[in-house]
Amino acid sequence: VFSTVEMAPRDPILGLTEAFNADTRTTKVNLGVGVYYDDAGKLPLLRAVRAAEEARMKNAPPRGYQPIEGAPAYNKAVQDLLFGQGAALTADGRVVTAQALGGTGALKIGADFLKRLLPQAKVYISDPSWENHRALFEAAGFEVDVYPYFDADTRGVRFDAMIAHLKALPASQIVLLHACCHNPTGADLTDAQWAEVVEVCKARNLVPFLDMAYQGFADGIDQDAVAVRQFVQSGLSFVISSSFSKSFSLYGERVGALSIVTASKDESARVLSQLKRTIRTNYSNPPTHGGAVVASVLATPELRSMWEEELGEMRERIRAMRTGLVDKLSARGVARDFSFVVRQRGMFSYTGLTVAQVDRLRDEFGIYAVSTGRICLAALNSKNIDYVADSLATILK
Ligand code: LMR
Repeated sequence: VFSTVEMAPRDPILGLTEAFNADTRTTKVNLGVGVYYDDAGKLPLLRAVRAAEEARMKNAPPRGYQPIEGAPAYNKAVQDLLFGQGAALTADGRVVTAQALGGTGALKIGADFLKRLLPQAKVYISDPSWENHRALFEAAGFEVDVYPYFDADTRGVRFDAMIAHLKALPASQIVLLHACCHNPTGADLTDAQWAEVVEVCKARNLVPFLDMAYQGFADGIDQDAVAVRQFVQSGLSFVISSSFSKSFSLYGERVGALSIVTASKDESARVLSQLKRTIRTNYSNPPTHGGAVVASVLATPELRSMWEEELGEMRERIRAMRTGLVDKLSARGVARDFSFVVRQRGMFSYTGLTVAQVDRLRDEFGIYAVSTGRICLAALNSKNIDYVADSLATILK
């Protein structure tokens, strides 16, 4: 039965980690996947997470099934982060939140739910977008198209083209937007530009789906939620996928959430009932540990401020690596202007490296980047940054 199965290509991002792990060179650097490493090159276990885990384990908690949509305390914590503590729409019962298996799991249950609701709709993603967006929505049965986004000349957003495209869309189309720290380009919209996008979504009756996997990595928790808050102000119904993989360094625990903003409490009850069917037929209900840890950190004032401090440290370290890399490239006489790296936000930079240059970096130097030229600055540290700058300078000569 399996004799006709063809070999699938490696995943464009996670496949790089597979190749990286198999590489025996000691100088190798993985700038592929979006994972934050500390200055010692280690995946951090946040102090706040450790404290919450120790407290939880002391009580030897039983491992019963969770509710299909996850624990109420976790879902409430998610809503407070997205919409702000005590936001009116949460108090009014206008948000449905379900714990999900990371940001990807949230996108998946959101996609499955929307496919049943809007079978004819197309999904529009930014050009370019996270590699998995297209694959995931296509796997859910949608046709996926793009709207203009990145401007390779300015390394910013082709905002006029983006807005013109959105304005021309038929009603009820799904528009996937990166709420902050655009993946892969690092180029975000300004607050004023978000206001225009919200206007167009309202005027054209579009269905906004905000992907928010990096809250806190640009400017801070509330600052990075500007897009979400503007959509709330508009009174529109919309969807958000969010993740604690990066902000809590809990990648493998798969802790994310899908939140759906509805028009009323009654609508929420019906939406939740359908979302529960989607979840039940995907994975039944979410795992316990990661969600419980996040909920406890966010609900315990001392741990919450510890976490915010640690998140700030991660954000600042990435910024320092951005500046460091730009300075080191110019000190090595690289003529091309890389100052855009400092302006880009979040973990990534869309460097403009060609496929051939990315291949050379990997083959000659053991430095792994996504074939589109995306690099993850959060994997640079004080020990590998000179090696990366030297290698880049060599291939750019
Ligand atoms: C990335 O873009 O590298 C991360 O979001 C990890 C992933 O799942 O692709």
